[in-house]
Amino acid sequence: MSEPSRAAPWYIDPAAPEAAADRNLASSLAIEPVEVPPPHGLYLKREAAGLGLHRADGPRTHPLTLDLSALLAERMRGARQSPLAKACGLARPAPQHLCDATAGLGRDSVVAAWLGAEVTPIERCAPIYCLLLDAWQRAQSLSGAPSAWIQRLARPEPVDATTWLSQAVPGRFDTIYMDPMFAAARRKARPQKALAWLGELAGPDPDAAALLAAARRVAATRVVVKQHARSQPLATPSHQIQAKAVRFDVYLTGLGVSS
Ligand SMILES: C[S@@+](CC[C@H](N)C(=O)[O-])C[C@H]1O[C@@H](n2cnc3c(N)ncnc32)[C@H](O)[C@@H]1O
Repeated sequence: MSEPSRAAPWYIDPAAPEAAADRNLASSLAIEPVEVPPPHGLYLKREAAGLGLHRADGPRTHPLTLDLSALLAERMRGARQSPLAKACGLARPAPQHLCDATAGLGRDSVVAAWLGAEVTPIERCAPIYCLLLDAWQRAQSLSGAPSAWIQRLARPEPVDATTWLSQAVPGRFDTIYMDPMFAAARRKARPQKALAWLGELAGPDPDAAALLAAARRVAATRVVVKQHARSQPLATPSHQIQAKAVRFDVYLTGLGVSS
């Protein structure tokens, strides 16, 4: 996890049944486990609803817990005609393997999986990765047969995508999708809590151009970069798909069909 993500400790109740597993995961990702809630800042804590991100100071607010089915339910209406689907080649159902190189809270990953792609999510910021992994595990273990879309969503990878893709075979994915965080505010209105906390933890992504270069070497068909509508592209795209507040820059690679 090379870029500057902010630390968020994990408050683990030693008496909780998941304490040992949580401590192992925390230490494998260099997250500090603590036995009392910290006085300041953001921290992780397990809730009945799943792993939550809490704020110790500031106004009282609910923890942030991810629910992938709920995230999908908010986004599935019109998803097939959306700019994201058009940019990623998902406007018509066709099998493809998509890497979400900046998975964050998993919102774009779930839509891509629901639209029919086999999705590999990658997230390098350790606390955000833990929230995503926990949501993915809960979605996988829902009683009854898991939905087809959740079966198409692979276990997230806790790595830096630039490093990871630089070791991948060219053509490994059909599409590589990136939604980097930019230092400039992405919108005029105050961002929702989830986005504000995500930004606070992940920080800006000044290395997005390096990720694009690594992705262009590996994607069989295209790399798609989501950008603020008025921002400069990272390089010269093959074409662009404009949405209301954002833009999708599409870089066709023409490497051929992936496995
Ligand atoms: C704007 S958020 C992505 C939001 C996401 N599209 C969603 O639907 O929730 C950007 C995320 O990408 C992650 N990220 C940025 N560069 C990365 C890289 N090179 N490798 C892995 N993760 C990266 C950041 O840590 C952050 O969580």
